Order: sequence, then C-alpha cells, then structure tokens
Amino acid sequence: MQCFPSLVLALSSLLGALALLQLSLYLRVPSRYGKHDERLCRPRGRLPARCAWFVQELPSFLVPALLLALRSPPRLEPLGCRLLCCLFCWHYFYRTFIYPFFTRGRPFPLQLLFFGTLFCIYNGFLQGYYLIYCAEYPSDWCTDIRFTSGLLLFLLGMGINIHSDLLLRQLRKPGEVTYKIPQGGLFTYVSGANYFGEIVEWFGFAIATWSLPAFTFAFFTLCCIGPRAYHHHRYQNSNCFLQCAASCSWDAFCKMPGRGREAGLEYKVKLKIIMLYTRSILTCLQLGESTAVHWKSC
Ligand SMILES: NC(=O)c1ccc[n+]([C@@H]2O[C@H](COP(=O)([O-])OP(=O)(O)OC[C@H]3O[C@@H](n4cnc5c(N)ncnc54)[C@H](OP(=O)(O)O)[C@@H]3O)[C@@H](O)[C@H]2O)c1
Repeated sequence: MQCFPSLVLALSSLLGALALLQLSLYLRVPSRYGKHDERLCRPRGRLPARCAWFVQELPSFLVPALLLALRSPPRLEPLGCRLLCCLFCWHYFYRTFIYPFFTRGRPFPLQLLFFGTLFCIYNGFLQGYYLIYCAEYPSDWCTDIRFTSGLLLFLLGMGINIHSDLLLRQLRKPGEVTYKIPQGGLFTYVSGANYFGEIVEWFGFAIATWSLPAFTFAFFTLCCIGPRAYHHHRYQNSNCFLQCAASCSWDAFCKMPGRGREAGLEYKVKLKIIMLYTRSILTCLQLGESTAVHWKSC
C-alpha cells in the first residue's frame, strides 16, 4: 500500500460532512441510548452494554494495529510519528479492553451498534492509514511546541475522561439502573465531564499530529458528544430524571407507568378507542345518509 493524498482528503471531507450531519440530527433530539432511550424495556434488538462497547470499539484498535503490522518495511520514523500512532491505539485499547468490562450501563440498541462499528472501522482506517503511510514529520517533531502541547492536552483529556467514567460507574451498584447527580472531579464544574475530557483529548491529538484527519475527527467528536452533553445537562433537571432516580432495579424500572410493556398496552387501548370512535362516526354518517334518502323519497 502507498500514500494517496487524495484518498486522505476525500475520507477526511466525508468525516467532516458526517460531523455536520450528526450535529443537525442530534442537536434537538438526543441519540437514543442510555438515559435517552425510551424503548428500554423492549429486550428485542439490544445487546448487553459490555458486549456492545467491546464489539463497537474493537475496530478502532484493530484496524490501525493491522495496518501497522502489515506495513513492510516498517515505516514509523521519526519517533514522533510512532508515538502518535501509539496514542490513538492506546485510547482505543482502553475503550475496547478495559471500559466495557466495568461498565454498568443499559443494553445498547443494535441499530446504533451497527453504525458505531462502521464508524470505528472508517475512522480507524483513516487515522491509521494517514499516520502509517502518509504523515511526514521532521526528525525534531518531538520537541516541536505543537507536539508537546498537543500531547499534554491529550494526556490531560484522557485523564479527565477515565476519571469521570469511573465516577459515573461508582454511582451504581451492579444491577442498578438508577440515575444520580454525579459529583466530584470535574463534575463539580461540568455536567458532562466525561465528554469534556474526550473532546479535549482528541483536540490535543489533532494539535500533536497537526493533520487534517485528526482535526476532522476532533470536530466529529465535538459534534457527536457536544449535543449529547447538552441533553444530559437538561435531563438532569427534568422530571424523567427524578422518576428514573426513584426506581432501583430493572424490574421496578420496567413496571413504571409509561414504560415498556405498560406503555405498549396503553398505546393499544388508545388505538382501540380511536377505531371505535371512527366506526361509530361512519355508522352515524351512513344512518344520516339513508334517513335523508328516505325523507326525499317521501
Ligand atoms: N469520540 C466519540 O465520538 C464518542 C462518542 C460516544 C461516546 N464516547 C465516549 O464513550 C464513553 C461512554 O459514552 P456514553 O455516551 O455512554 O456516556 P454516558 O451517557 O455519560 O454514560 C456513561 C455511563 O455512565 C452511566 N451514567 C450516565 N449518567 C449517569 C447518572 N447520572 N447516574 C448513574 N449512571 C450514569 C451510563 O449508564 P446508562 O447507559 O444506563 O445511561 C453509562 O453506563 C464516554 O467516555 C464518551 O466520551 C465517545
């Protein structure tokens, strides 16, 4: 394989377009997983969170690692370039092999899992391909201000992200689905501290690599989890938060009025009432018509 700059440009532009699409889709309505998933108690079309996060994030680690292994002769000089590729893989090693095994999240919708996995293949290829086959850095890149400041931001963002994910996890006992207001760490200042950390992390990576693919990925992250952070903030002040915080188990949650099967039953009853109304109106109309005909003939 060799470097095709036009391929990098095309894939980065598409990623930028996808970012704008995300922003327009999810600015008003949040993506439907976790606390924003109303169809939670329907078990069909869902995978346990642990399994889902593992499957979804694996390609982001595997694709660049495979590209790296298949590159012959290995070209990861200078040191800066090698480090940058390792940073990307390091984040996704954490996200694939550590995060899923500790998560206490809700089952994940298969449809979102499918698109998430596609995205991870796409982005893993773009970032890996660029760093392994195209990136050119001077031999003293490791001492460049962009590299050092970007690396520091990346590490800071990753630290915030991991710490905030840990704080969120500690809000629940195993099997619980309650929502509590996260406290401590950066949650004292930002309600979406885990998202804030991830955004800082990828902008740091973009500065350190000083590349179009990394900047578009950072922009994508901002457009994807920025609106979600905003919806999380609003959710925390809503009635639904209080309702969900009151239930302490799956069973209790699914028996809440308006949720799961009960919501389905309510819907069916409403549908029957509407049909009954429609039928009686039609009958009345027919009756009216036949009476009018009768009077006319008299
Ligand atoms: N780079 C990207 O484009 C991108 C995109 C998406 C996600 N991510 C990263 O992936 C990680 C997970 O994302 P996410 O969207 O699942 O984050 P999230 O909605 O904040 O949820 C994270 C975990 O914490 C639980 N949780 C959230 N709020 C809680 C509360 N108030 N009380 C108790 N538990 C709570 C969630 O449970 P429930 O599942 O039950 O809500 C879930 O298990 C984050 O670190 C994020 O930065 C990155």
